[in-house]
Amino acid sequence: MSADDLIRQVDNLGRVFAAEIEPLAGEQEIRNAQARYLGKKGTVSQLMKQMRHVPAAQRKRVGSVFNRVKSSIADAVAAKLRQLEEVDKASDLARTIDVTLPGRQGAIGRLHLVTQVWNEVVEIFSEIGFEVAEGPQIDTDFHCFEALAMPKGHPARDMQDTFYITDDVVLRPHTSPVQIRTMTSQTPPVKIIAPGVVYRRDDDPTHSPMFTQLEGLLVDEVVGLSDLKGVFLHLIRRFYGKSLEVRFRPSYFPFVEPGVEVDMQCAFCMSGNPACRVCKGTGWIEISGAGMVDPDVFAHVDYDAEKFTGFAWGMGLERIAMLRHNVNDIKHLYEGDVRFLRQF
Ligand code: DAH
Repeated sequence: MSADDLIRQVDNLGRVFAAEIEPLAGEQEIRNAQARYLGKKGTVSQLMKQMRHVPAAQRKRVGSVFNRVKSSIADAVAAKLRQLEEVDKASDLARTIDVTLPGRQGAIGRLHLVTQVWNEVVEIFSEIGFEVAEGPQIDTDFHCFEALAMPKGHPARDMQDTFYITDDVVLRPHTSPVQIRTMTSQTPPVKIIAPGVVYRRDDDPTHSPMFTQLEGLLVDEVVGLSDLKGVFLHLIRRFYGKSLEVRFRPSYFPFVEPGVEVDMQCAFCMSGNPACRVCKGTGWIEISGAGMVDPDVFAHVDYDAEKFTGFAWGMGLERIAMLRHNVNDIKHLYEGDVRFLRQF
């Protein structure tokens, strides 16, 4: 074989190789192709064997063409592999960072319905001059019962199923002890509300062992139940957004005389529709206990019952929230299901 023939053939191999790896897309395939040409038994190596037929004077020229073709093959392989790597990297990036996706939203928390209602009623009562008073959730028998005219053995103590810690210390079963704490630390006039958590051994669709009450107390020189009615009319108009009727029904609580149950006109049927499930056809919904502070209570806190009168009330915040939002089971409020709680 002449030197020129050999040069033509080896040059040709270089071109064929370039065309061959052009469509390849896998590293292994590319390396196999490389081995087919440059490997020991590869086509280029085979062709090299023909060198011995080339006259000595021409070998240098032919040899340099072999070298050029070999390094062009090696360069083509390297370029192809680099290109492959770029493609991989780009598709990795495209997979992990899609800049067109909307950002991931962190969950936005919000206030629990009962907390919202708590804040709201504090605001509503502050509009008519009530200030917030506080007391401990673990309180004494004296504040929770004794000073509220319920001495030990008084049957009315059973009205609250109390959690006792010791004989004299309890989880407060109502917010009424805050009345006592306020009056023992303050002289009249007194005008407070006391929202707070209370505990009872009670557990059914309308009762939870932990719930929230709002106590109110107003003591001054000339105070009557008609003033209390005005307070409730204001609360209802602001809280339910409607002017609804209020009525008092005689009732009994040891620390008030007279004691009443406060009813508001049914906000759902307005009129006592026999089919109304909220008021059960009566047209009224009970929302609070209340009454005129019993002189016995005044005696415990050294208030002059001849000079001062006062009214007090206690209501459940869950109850007024459930009525406004049509929630029929108090458990919904305390199971922590955000799908439910998110709605408010
Ligand atoms: N403390 C009572 C209870 O939890 C509610 C109550 C009734 C509070 C009449 C009052 C009141 O202040 O005057 O059942």
